[in-house]
Amino acid sequence: MIWDTHAHLDDPRYREDFDQVLENMKNAQISRVTNVGYDLASSEHSVDLAHRYDFIYAAVGVHPHDAEGVTPETWGTLLQLAKDEKVIGWGEIGLDYYRDLSPRPVQQEIFIQQIELADQAGLPIIIHDREAHGDLLKIVKEHPPKHGGVFHCYSGSWEMAKIVLNLGFYLSFAGPLTFKNARHTVEVASKVPLDRFLVETDSPYLTPEPYRGKRNEPTYVREVVARIAKIRELSLKEVAQQSFQNAVRLFNLN
Ligand code: NI
Repeated sequence: MIWDTHAHLDDPRYREDFDQVLENMKNAQISRVTNVGYDLASSEHSVDLAHRYDFIYAAVGVHPHDAEGVTPETWGTLLQLAKDEKVIGWGEIGLDYYRDLSPRPVQQEIFIQQIELADQAGLPIIIHDREAHGDLLKIVKEHPPKHGGVFHCYSGSWEMAKIVLNLGFYLSFAGPLTFKNARHTVEVASKVPLDRFLVETDSPYLTPEPYRGKRNEPTYVREVVARIAKIRELSLKEVAQQSFQNAVRLFNLN
């Protein structure tokens, strides 16, 4: 049993072969997937997918790229969606200083507002942090989410990881852990407490080796699990079980 805790199956790149992608997942024993929203439409789509398939769960939220597009209605609609029993997280939210698609002060404001909304909704947060480590840490220290959260596709150093773990967050590993230049992430994966990590694909992005260059899909989360197993000298099954239990704990499911 493996849980891909971060995917975007609503992406148009799955339109042609969606059923096949789900079939591949089942054959590879990927038993759960969290479909994560990044704006209003994708959050609605995530909830819709979660209603159609029992093994799909949803997260709702506005990505920093889309922070500027938030209107007064956005939060009301998301809070309404968050009441659904298949919605288990608020995300993905955070800061992206790599692409800077929304002005940084707007990204920060929208991130803080969503931590408060997640608290209201009783949900953990799913954090996107790209080249914004300093400001992101400052915000989560000043506004600690009541129901915890996870740094999705963790990309920081072990030094930063220690701070993040002390604040109670989980770290999630994705395809980049399998890349040749993943020295820092490998170090983090070798030291993270076994009860504090998750695995994910971020499909259709961040395809792991040896599939790099192709479209990603939840099945390939096995490559991430296998890489952690090798780093920790554990079996694939042990890593799968441990990360599954961690996700159950963070997302408050049985
Ligand atoms: Ni994502």
